[in-house]
Amino acid sequence: MLASFPSLLLNLGLVPLCTASTYKFDRNHVGVAFGPYTKQWEANDTIPEWSSYTLQQLECQLTLISSKFTYIATYNFGTRDSITSHIPTVTASMNKAANKKLLSIAQGIHQLADPTSQLAEVTSAFQGAQAANAIFPNTVWALTVNWEDIFSVQEGIKVSQMINTIKSHPEFQASNLKIGARTQNCETALDPNNQHADIVAILTQLVRDSDYLMCNLYPDYTTSMQSVESAVNSVSNTYSKLNDMVKSVNPKCDLIVGETGWPSEGVAFNGSPSTVSNMAKFWELVGQKAATHGVKVVMFEAIDEPWKSDRRNRDPRDANGFNGGEGHYGWWVQRNNSDSCSFFEKATGLTVKIV
Ligand SMILES: *[C@@H]1O[C@H](CO)[C@@H](O)[C@H](O)[C@H]1NC(C)=O
Ligand SMILES: *[C@@H]1O[C@H](CO)[C@@H](O)[C@H](O)[C@H]1NC(C)=O
Repeated sequence: MLASFPSLLLNLGLVPLCTASTYKFDRNHVGVAFGPYTKQWEANDTIPEWSSYTLQQLECQLTLISSKFTYIATYNFGTRDSITSHIPTVTASMNKAANKKLLSIAQGIHQLADPTSQLAEVTSAFQGAQAANAIFPNTVWALTVNWEDIFSVQEGIKVSQMINTIKSHPEFQASNLKIGARTQNCETALDPNNQHADIVAILTQLVRDSDYLMCNLYPDYTTSMQSVESAVNSVSNTYSKLNDMVKSVNPKCDLIVGETGWPSEGVAFNGSPSTVSNMAKFWELVGQKAATHGVKVVMFEAIDEPWKSDRRNRDPRDANGFNGGEGHYGWWVQRNNSDSCSFFEKATGLTVKIV
């Protein structure tokens, strides 16, 4: 890392405290999902306020990510006071300062039940993308409409309508932006009994509508209990089958692995035996497959989001509870709430401090 990115080190002050990490991912095919809420639970079982995150911390997070990856996928834009709404412009400013595209973004659009809030989210995500790209071209390359927060047939139809509304907008057409959807329901299409034909019909429509479809693909219980290799092979096989279906509907639609991952600790929703070494191996093998097959993957996720393992939820088997794996999917972890620019790389045990 030190040898390959001298200009990054000079420009952004990335200071590894120990020797360089041995993990290298193919930057063209391996990116990361990113949510900025990385602080740990306090001793009194509260999680720091969303509003406690600063622009400086955000810049540290993005600088950290750019040391290893060149693209991120986000989940929501948010309102003007949420730190998420600054991700595109802060990234664009970093790109401008470096005079090269350190990081690019697939900007997520959060699903909201209330139509007024939904319209505001779409509008501000588009405006945010435009603002970022005015600072540095193509920082945001795409808008991803989520069909995962609220899941139903009716919501799927709404996602398709939203995509078509955005596509028909002259300002969108004048931009270079691509548009797609992200969902965790792609595997429904592989059900041999086709028990959810209504959902498959919407997935098919989304493939027709979109430049890309992001499918969240996690290994199932059986294969992940066998070995990390089996788990990676099963994700890869699922991808191949889905990709054949996507290409048969719309050859211009790219299938991207919108999320895959493995928790380093805690109870995983899919039963993956969670250890740091399994997590690291999963990332490494998925990365190799992606590079070999020329497939884009978004690993879940850049930095642990501890709030996702709710310490007040005392069910020891709940993936979202105090013992849950949801807060432990990150490649890095922020271990100290008062030190917002130091990140621990689980796989190597190295701490990186961004200065
Ligand atoms: C919990 O602890 C944190 C950190 O010490 C503090 O900022 C917060 O106000 C506390 N919250 C409650 C409800 O006591
Ligand atoms: C956390 O970070 C603060 C600020 O850098 C530092 O003073 C403190 O010693 C750190 N705590 C631990 C446990 O390392």
